[in-house]
Amino acid sequence: MLKVKDLRTFYRSIEALKSVSMEVEEGEIVALIGANGAGKTTMLMTISGMLRARSGLVEFSGKRIDGLKPHEIVRLGISQVPEGRRIFPGLTVLENIELGGFMVKDKKELLNRIEMVYAYFPVLKERSSQFGGTLSGGEQQMLAIGRALMARPRLLLLDEPSLGLAPLMVARIFEIIRKINNEGNTILLVEQNARAALELAHRGYVMETGRIVMTDRAERLLQDSRVRETYLGERGLA
Ligand SMILES: Nc1ncnc2c1ncn2[C@@H]1O[C@H](COP(=O)(O)OP(=O)(O)O)[C@@H](O)[C@H]1O
Ligand SMILES: [Mg+2]
Repeated sequence: MLKVKDLRTFYRSIEALKSVSMEVEEGEIVALIGANGAGKTTMLMTISGMLRARSGLVEFSGKRIDGLKPHEIVRLGISQVPEGRRIFPGLTVLENIELGGFMVKDKKELLNRIEMVYAYFPVLKERSSQFGGTLSGGEQQMLAIGRALMARPRLLLLDEPSLGLAPLMVARIFEIIRKINNEGNTILLVEQNARAALELAHRGYVMETGRIVMTDRAERLLQDSRVRETYLGERGLA
């Protein structure tokens, strides 16, 4: 479904992606793990068109999408939930959700999609007229995911959904990600919480300083001594 080949992305002269290749098959949850600064966010931003690659290609359902504008990529079926949620604190929960449905002109379809979001996240319905900024961190993450779902994406890009959340909330969010996947969405999940991500994902990629250094089925990565020592906080295994 998604194919990234030899992608190189720069911030001025800093090469943040050094010829990265990866693939996501339809129906998968793929985890992209790696330390802070590895290039994970840059990878998602390049796929979603927020950043432009200097070379390489991104294909989605067999069509080249690198070079397209972010809103064109959303229309093709890729939605991104950005790192740090980026909800609008001064807009209501409902207004935030509606923003994600900018491409829907049909009023009834818009309402259907809002109901779909509320079905995933009942708490957002309860809080629909509250300002986004009054939500807890976990609820804001739900709002960010709900907003992205309004586009009915076939591929959902999630950037550190667990960041800053208490363990119980992380578990709830991850349960919902699994549910979203079970209902037919493909997911590319970026996480520093490698254990949680690999326990959820089918496959994983490990990124270090702008390169993919390892890829395998998630359960195999969870057992890999190097992954365990470096990313799962276990010592003396290698
Ligand atoms: N806006 C930016 N300007 C310059 N360098 C950046 C910018 N954003 C990220 N970088 C650098 O690019 C590299 C990859 O960053 P990033 O993709 O945010 O990593 P991750 O999401 O894995 O933490 C890091 O070295 C980071 O310092
Ligand atoms: Mg990041």
